[in-house]
Amino acid sequence: MTNGTGRFAGKVAVVAGGASGIGLAILRGLHREGARVVCGDISQERLDGIAGEFDERVACTRVDVTREAEVEALMALAVERFDALDCAFNVAGASRPGYIVDLAESDWDFTVDLCLKGVFLGMKHAARHMLGRGGAIVNIASLNAHVPMHAGAAYASAKAGVEMLTRNGALEMTPDGVRVNAVLPGLVETPLTRRHFENRAALDAFLARIPAGRAAQPEDIAAPALFLASEEARYVSGASLLVDGGWAVTGYPDMRPFRGRPGWPKPNAGADP
Ligand SMILES: NC(=O)c1ccc[n+]([C@@H]2O[C@H](COP(=O)([O-])OP(=O)(O)OC[C@H]3O[C@@H](n4cnc5c(N)ncnc54)[C@H](O)[C@@H]3O)[C@@H](O)[C@H]2O)c1
Repeated sequence: MTNGTGRFAGKVAVVAGGASGIGLAILRGLHREGARVVCGDISQERLDGIAGEFDERVACTRVDVTREAEVEALMALAVERFDALDCAFNVAGASRPGYIVDLAESDWDFTVDLCLKGVFLGMKHAARHMLGRGGAIVNIASLNAHVPMHAGAAYASAKAGVEMLTRNGALEMTPDGVRVNAVLPGLVETPLTRRHFENRAALDAFLARIPAGRAAQPEDIAAPALFLASEEARYVSGASLLVDGGWAVTGYPDMRPFRGRPGWPKPNAGADP
């Protein structure tokens, strides 16, 4: 399938961590909108699982984003295969959780290396192909950049780091034509969060925090990520876009049981008299 009219027609993108969840939704969106894309992921099984879905405008390759030489090769592949690199999405992430008092040093290192160093390496090696020519980098952080969670110190710290890394990147790179922005998702239904969706009580605890009344689907996160990489966001750099269904605004207790509900819509509006 070719798409010469989409927002990314003629553009070349890399999605690091693109074989599942949010990264896969970004990959599908880019492909649908005309881009040529290199999808990198550590899981060969997942890469094999998606390869048949795409045509020659998508190249899949195995990469560990915590290894600099591999990330350098990932970005170079876009230029070798498709002659350019216009957009990079740093999406790969996971966590080995643990309370601070229990957390093994190796688990801290795993999470911070993957979630923070991986993004640094992605930015570094993508930008080297973009500076002076123009480009856009989108990093996937998390609501946990702002909100701590039990047993999530390493993850939340790394995600907070991604937000500052994004701002630092914007400071350094925007003058040379490279915009750098971050998306901060709330709860998204992906393989990463499957355990929350298999536990009704845990899911209800999340939903009580989300004014939108549901978790996000990966496409709900891909859409703003694509916007930030697109020409529509040409004057946006250094931004952190919360995409959380309103979760971040729910820090205050729900006072509606004490104040009563708003007067609109009318309680019986639309009901038969
Ligand atoms: N799902 C959520 O609720 C949620 C919320 C906020 C932020 N995020 C972030 O969004 C990003 C994507 O998460 P997801 O939910 O789509 O998870 P996912 O597990 O579905 O996808 C993550 C992908 O990253 C790949 N990956 C893991 N380690 C890698 C490595 N070292 N090198 C290359 N690829 C690697 C995995 O193989 C997988 O395909 C992560 O950074 C995650 O922290 C997710």
